[in-house]
Amino acid sequence: MSQYDVVIIGAGPGGYNAAIRAGQLGLKVACVEGRETLGGTCLNVGCMPSKALLHASEMYEAAAGGEFANLGIQVQPKLDLAQMMKQKAESVINLTKGVEFLFKKNKVEWVKGWGRIDGPGKVVVKAADGSETTLETKNIVIATGSEPTPLPGVTVDNKRIVDSTGALSLPEVPKSLVIVGAGVIGLELGSVWRRLGAEVTVVEFLDRICPGTDEETAKTFQRSLTKQGFVFKLGSKVTGAKASAKGVELTVEPVAGGAAETLKADYVLVAIGRRPYTQGLGLETVGVQTDKRGVVGHDGHFKTGAAGVWVIGDVTTGPMLAHKAEDEAVACIELIAGKAGHVNPDIIPGVIYTKPEVATVGKTEEELKAAGIAYKVGKFPFMANSRAKINHETEGFVKVLADAKTDRILGAHMVGPNVGDMIAEFCVAMEFAAASEDVARTCHPHPTRSEALRQAAMAVEGWAMQA
Ligand code: FAD
Ligand code: NAI
Repeated sequence: MSQYDVVIIGAGPGGYNAAIRAGQLGLKVACVEGRETLGGTCLNVGCMPSKALLHASEMYEAAAGGEFANLGIQVQPKLDLAQMMKQKAESVINLTKGVEFLFKKNKVEWVKGWGRIDGPGKVVVKAADGSETTLETKNIVIATGSEPTPLPGVTVDNKRIVDSTGALSLPEVPKSLVIVGAGVIGLELGSVWRRLGAEVTVVEFLDRICPGTDEETAKTFQRSLTKQGFVFKLGSKVTGAKASAKGVELTVEPVAGGAAETLKADYVLVAIGRRPYTQGLGLETVGVQTDKRGVVGHDGHFKTGAAGVWVIGDVTTGPMLAHKAEDEAVACIELIAGKAGHVNPDIIPGVIYTKPEVATVGKTEEELKAAGIAYKVGKFPFMANSRAKINHETEGFVKVLADAKTDRILGAHMVGPNVGDMIAEFCVAMEFAAASEDVARTCHPHPTRSEALRQAAMAVEGWAMQA
């Protein structure tokens, strides 16, 4: 039986970053992973393959949709879907191999197989050949991630009715694609297939898209997607689905009541959220309970109710995001090593990697209103940003929310070109408790889209100079 300081169950962004940090700090560490490759949902079937297809499809549409022609570049592109999928798969393999390399570099032992907790300090790993190994450890970190939430009455067969994993590898461009759920997955993967030629209809239960996102930002985003050809059926629910070899018939009803309609589509993507994954994990053997949604809770510093059992990433509370899992991984391991690990849950950015992109951090206007916090707003449109104009990418805006009394930045919300990269500026500013004036008086390079961030910060005090 092997003895460890830490055994981590799951090798996604939570688990693999925890393992690397543990190795860096000289802990004896094993990471148990049941998949064939490291990297979890993110690298294998999430962030990375979706971004590969978003990038490729954006290039295709720029060439096919007239953007290149407008720039004076005449081309006649032809879609090679097989090659698009191949380059995506190759990038994914490279990335998962990269994690393998980092494991070796940091002396992390990768124990292949499905792990289950078997009482305090014990993890049993079942390998593909059925053999079992018991690992003894001072600490167990649960990093088992999440899985798609099923939709009652609609069976995902990953042929005609797919989840996100199926939608990353459709064998053809659908003529019509219906997406259930106007969240991040639906809008990113919907963008991919729309750019490649699909007619995309999104059925959303609520009367808005991207719940939780600043409302003005979500509305602007929805207008932009509608202009691109997305059809939204808001306030609607799917009550049944019949799949055949050729396509799917969906029954859709207004949430408020009324007549049902039938939607026909070549493919249906169900993307109504994800739920924590703890199947067969043996939580009961250490007395760890989940809430009704299956979430494993912690004390604010990643300790579950059981001594020596910690939890990070999608399987616990908070947004299901790779960078949040990574931050928690570092803090959790540093705490295990006797250091002062901490994650600030108020400053976790969110990005939707469409065109335009959406990026947010901190409080939304709705949250500030609900909390009764007086705030000021500074807004700047990309229409007035010189670089965006030159590049013909003028949709969207940057909005800064600052405390009315102290001017401290409370939130930033953006729709526009490259905002996913630029939001990091506000994350740093907010971690340093910056005032909007700090950003407004910081020199930004010209001509860049980042000047829109500075102008929005200037607008908080009413002195934006370029709009
Ligand atoms: P996971 O990445 O889910 O990893 C958990 C791992 O644990 C899995 O590999 C699983 O096989 C393994 N495991 C589970 N149980 C056991 C067990 N008992 N024994 C052994 N191994 C086990 N987030 C972003 O921040 N940006 C994005 O752009 C983004 N895009 C996404 C796109 C899609 C299509 C999807 C589905 C998700 C996306 N996400 C994105 C979310 C992101 O993938 C997750 O937040 C992130 O992967 C969570 O990391 P994790 O380590 O908690 O869990
Ligand atoms: P989501 O929570 O973002 O969106 C789900 C949507 O489905 C919501 O708008 C919800 O109101 C709607 N919905 C729920 N039940 C419904 C029903 N019965 N009928 C119709 N609509 C319904 O979840 P999504 O898109 O599945 O993504 C899962 C997770 O993956 C998210 O938490 C997200 O953070 C993460 N992710 C992050 C990405 C990024 O950071 N760029 C990209 C993709 C996923």
